[in-house]
Amino acid sequence: MKNYLSISDIDNLSEWVKEAQKLKANPKADKKLGADKTICLLFFNNSLRTRLSTQKAAMNLGMEVMVMNFGNEGWALEYGDGTIMNQNTSEHIKEAAQVVSQFCDIVAIRAFASLTDKEQDEAEVVLNGFKKYTSIPIVNMESSVGHPLQALADAITMEEQKTKVKPKVVLSWAPHPKALPHAVANSFVEMMQLQEADFVITHPEGYELNEAISKNTTIEYDQKKALENADFVYVKNWSSYTDYGNVSNQDSNWMMTMEKLGSAKFMHCLPVRRNVVVEDAVLDSEQSLVIEQANNRTYAAQIVLKKILESLSKR
Ligand code: CP
Repeated sequence: MKNYLSISDIDNLSEWVKEAQKLKANPKADKKLGADKTICLLFFNNSLRTRLSTQKAAMNLGMEVMVMNFGNEGWALEYGDGTIMNQNTSEHIKEAAQVVSQFCDIVAIRAFASLTDKEQDEAEVVLNGFKKYTSIPIVNMESSVGHPLQALADAITMEEQKTKVKPKVVLSWAPHPKALPHAVANSFVEMMQLQEADFVITHPEGYELNEAISKNTTIEYDQKKALENADFVYVKNWSSYTDYGNVSNQDSNWMMTMEKLGSAKFMHCLPVRRNVVVEDAVLDSEQSLVIEQANNRTYAAQIVLKKILESLSKR
């Protein structure tokens, strides 16, 4: 595998999940695989879980790790071809990506959606800019439209927790005071489409995700109805996709409560705003899987890096 940019880079999900579980049981088993290899983690946005879990995964594989908060500390990058750079950008992606390639063997990038320019966000200018000009493998640590490492960790968590072959899984929108991207929801939907599950998305009208991603998935606008007999409830806020980046609804009735959750397991990628997105009682209950989801981020990243390192060793 050259890159891990989206869920579509997973060639065999059930095999990857099984391998990740094996790594979880023995995290240092492949300690020699990454010897003399360096990964560079470039963050254009904040992170807790992605930064620590990807670093931990790389260390488990014996890699050296360099981390740079590019958004605060790097030169402002230019992505356009032929731009006269006499404004705010100082360095072109053409040089920056090639320079990064001199120092490491794999580059992992976090670059969120702007939520102001849909066309630019969907073009994934940062990720695709690096892809175009770097010579080394790239890992997506959450881009404008996807968070495939989170979705892989979610798949590992559900495999560990499910009690039936085809569970009912609900992705439920939640209120939030800020405009948030669609990346986590998009990748979770794509992941569920690869799974054996009775999958339903519920959100207020006007919060439809990109139809190219939600395609044949059932959408139920009545949250109560959607949650009936759920085994897993994944809660996430996202801003409007059609009225791009806008927050037109902060209805607290959409917050997840213990009463609505019933006996289902609760999932969220974190960070989460308590008593806005979900009430304390849910997060503090035995039904919450959020800490295990975060823990599984290490093994999701580790299986991805392992596959890339194996393909590098064959070159
Ligand atoms: N879930 C997730 O990606 O967390 P961070 O933003 O803290 O990395």
